[in-house]
Amino acid sequence: MNVSQLAQVNNDDQQELEQFAADVFTGLSSDPKYLSAKYFYDDTGSELFQAISQHEDYYLTRTEYEILDSHSPYLPALLGEDEIDIIELGAGDGHKSELVINRFLEAGVKVNFHAIDISEKAIDMLGETILERPNLSVHGLIGDYFEGLRFLKGRTSKRQLVLFLGSNIGNFNHTESKAFLRRLWSSLNADDYLLIGFDLKKNINELINAYSDSSNYTRDLNLNLLARINRELGGNFDLSGFQHYAVYNPELGAMESYLLALGEQKVFIEALQQEFEFEAFEPLHLEYSFKFLPAEIDSLCKQTGYKRIENFSDKQDRFIDSLWQVTLRNG
Ligand code: AVI
Repeated sequence: MNVSQLAQVNNDDQQELEQFAADVFTGLSSDPKYLSAKYFYDDTGSELFQAISQHEDYYLTRTEYEILDSHSPYLPALLGEDEIDIIELGAGDGHKSELVINRFLEAGVKVNFHAIDISEKAIDMLGETILERPNLSVHGLIGDYFEGLRFLKGRTSKRQLVLFLGSNIGNFNHTESKAFLRRLWSSLNADDYLLIGFDLKKNINELINAYSDSSNYTRDLNLNLLARINRELGGNFDLSGFQHYAVYNPELGAMESYLLALGEQKVFIEALQQEFEFEAFEPLHLEYSFKFLPAEIDSLCKQTGYKRIENFSDKQDRFIDSLWQVTLRNG
């Protein structure tokens, strides 16, 4: 695998730490308190997410795998290209992208695969799963998604298929999703494709099980963010003083993850030179995972400048991978 470190986009560690500290300060000084789930994924958090995604209670990963397994054979004919750039946003563990890539190779399509991820470790792991072979080149770009796309735009004239899988879009609120999809639209060329995963609205018990798995990996993913503040910012959170609570908000259409303080707790964070007080039963909000109806997916598609080519779903209609095409600017 050919790995490029996008120097101009690779925030230096000090800058990242300062941003983390600033966001922790804002979230813990707010009422109600919150922290951003984007900070879940340090090395420990990424391993915990890996464990969640293989857990029986978390249906999302295996369901999307099932969809890609049964429907991706149709992709090469739908796209009709003889060479294509497949760009994965967020490296994942590579198993889903490998599936898609193989279908194109089997159909005789030459594939240039590029994975863009801020984490060097994620790119390295992906490079071990997806190996170069005849008709397949594999590239890792370490950096921000949009800088990665800009880097590629100047270097290829092939049709692009962007993969944004795993219901990662669900971790944005509606305003952020629209902004993200529109920015993606302007980073692509007319007629390029996006294959995007959405978790569907469904029986609330299934949702709650998925976000409170019986092995407590989801609890640990949430607690790891407090541990990360202790490690990186010199905090003294007592992790045993918090309970994980996952609940579905039917008005928002989102799962919400909280840590609830079991008793009063004073937390001092050295990097901020500040103490934060939790009252007994005070909630700390950490994550939204938005769920969608097919009609909501369609309207997001139209509003942000794409046309839907096809929705691929599983037998139980739990999840949709939607294939979109960039429409002409102002078209
Ligand atoms: C990464 N993302 C799509 C996951 C989700 O389902 O929202 C993160 C996650 N949080 C708890 N479990 C999994």
